[in-house]
Amino acid sequence: MASAGRQVPVYEERLMMKKRIACCLSGRGSNFKAILESVKAEEIRGEIVLVVSDNPEAKGLSFARMNGIRSEAIVREKGEPRPEYFERIIKRLEECTVDLICLAGFMKVLSGNIVSRYRNRIINIHPALLPSFPGEEAQRQAVEYGVKVSGCTVHFVDEGVDTGPIILQETVPVLDGDTEEILAARILKKEHELFPRAVKLFCSDRLTVEGRYVRVEDSG
Ligand code: GRF
Repeated sequence: MASAGRQVPVYEERLMMKKRIACCLSGRGSNFKAILESVKAEEIRGEIVLVVSDNPEAKGLSFARMNGIRSEAIVREKGEPRPEYFERIIKRLEECTVDLICLAGFMKVLSGNIVSRYRNRIINIHPALLPSFPGEEAQRQAVEYGVKVSGCTVHFVDEGVDTGPIILQETVPVLDGDTEEILAARILKKEHELFPRAVKLFCSDRLTVEGRYVRVEDSG
């Protein structure tokens, strides 16, 4: 907090401002809900200004609407090239002057234009310990491979699929007899802690990307 009467330099003023967050989702949106709860509890220095879904039926979209958050279904038209589809999304993000984009179960691979426009400002949650088991059905891949430990990863998004610099990871055990569904539920609980923690760090300017490495200044 600036002390009374002191002139606050412009850069400090920006640092103190709440970050403007957009969430992109395709389905039930439980990670979005976890972030929203953390925003409401003022643990995150930010506000969710936009929710975008590629699926008009997404449960997360109606939940966002019920919470009075601007929410839009932006559907990819048949035959529409990916860059053009994402250009439409970029337009909305820019109109809402978004600082951070959270991919909370967004089932479309981003095209290069949005990744470069928001370099190191898009974060994704993946239900495995990357670089193991990228892509779809990560929990099934883990069960079938027979690993003893899995977990979740929050990472910045780059041009690859689940390849960007890792921000935080959390582990869960894989137990005898686990099915894909049982493991997914155990991981999801961790996701709901991990994603808001990463968003909180971003919004407090405590993440620095150095090549592949993300330095985390974690003061609790
Ligand atoms: C989560 O398992 C997340 O890791 C993955 O998609 C799922 C989304 O779940 N990227 P929800 O819609 O947040 O409940």
